[in-house]
Amino acid sequence: MDTNDTEQVYAYLAARYDEGEGHPTSRDLAGVEEIVVLSLLRNISFHDVLDAATGTGRYAVRLAQMGKHVVGIDVSEPMLAQARAKASQLGLDIEFRRASVLAAPQADESFDLVICALALAHVKDLAGAVRELVRVLRCGGHLIISDLHPNIQKLWGPDWTAAIKDGRLLISGGEKDMANAWQCQQVPFPQYHGDVNEYLESIKAAGAEVLAAIDVPMEQGLGLLPGPLVIFARKSEHVTVEPAASADARNSRG
Ligand SMILES: C[S@@+](CC[C@H](N)C(=O)[O-])C[C@H]1O[C@@H](n2cnc3c(N)ncnc32)[C@H](O)[C@@H]1O
Repeated sequence: MDTNDTEQVYAYLAARYDEGEGHPTSRDLAGVEEIVVLSLLRNISFHDVLDAATGTGRYAVRLAQMGKHVVGIDVSEPMLAQARAKASQLGLDIEFRRASVLAAPQADESFDLVICALALAHVKDLAGAVRELVRVLRCGGHLIISDLHPNIQKLWGPDWTAAIKDGRLLISGGEKDMANAWQCQQVPFPQYHGDVNEYLESIKAAGAEVLAAIDVPMEQGLGLLPGPLVIFARKSEHVTVEPAASADARNSRG
């Protein structure tokens, strides 16, 4: 298991993530993104789904409610605990496992749909993560990746930090002077990818065809700003999948 730069932040966020704590626009962003993702899903057929970086199980729960067989993975145990609690309250049978998108524990070609929502911004090795997501996808299966738009990621950057005080996430967003003045603990919350092409090229290199890259602007205080980027792709029918590395080798790849 690779240790993830953002684990501390999500440990604090987990209990309040579904209320949108952490960033004022995060709930709006997820709401807008979800409309796009659900509209894409209406036009494809699938049964076995991997919700990669499932968080509190936003898509895992929704898709299981639609009768799909869903597996959710995430590096954050506190986020997974929320997801498990939701699934159990709703009587849904979803397998949640602690695992990184860089080393998914599933066999090659296990799923018809892989969804990775609002997470890859935090994963430095984007190409490695996408390769792994495509590896577990069946040929002809679909991949949906959404993320905070790269233009926003570029503004925030890999050194972005969140500030924590008395166990609460006060500000998410690199206001280091303010965080120092308030004597907050600063924890990494990197946003790594500043270019849409990084996503598109990673998907192509992994053996999938990009069907759409949807850039959804959002009205925010300053006017119309980039919101989520949603990429819809399909694994090519004739991809030679490299033999899966052994679990040990995959875990050390992190
Ligand atoms: C903004 S949340 C999104 C959660 C969920 N996909 C959603 O859209 O509501 C980002 C999630 O990515 C997870 N994450 C970050 N890096 C990861 C990695 N390398 N492998 C798996 N999960 C990761 C975090 O733990 C967190 O739960």
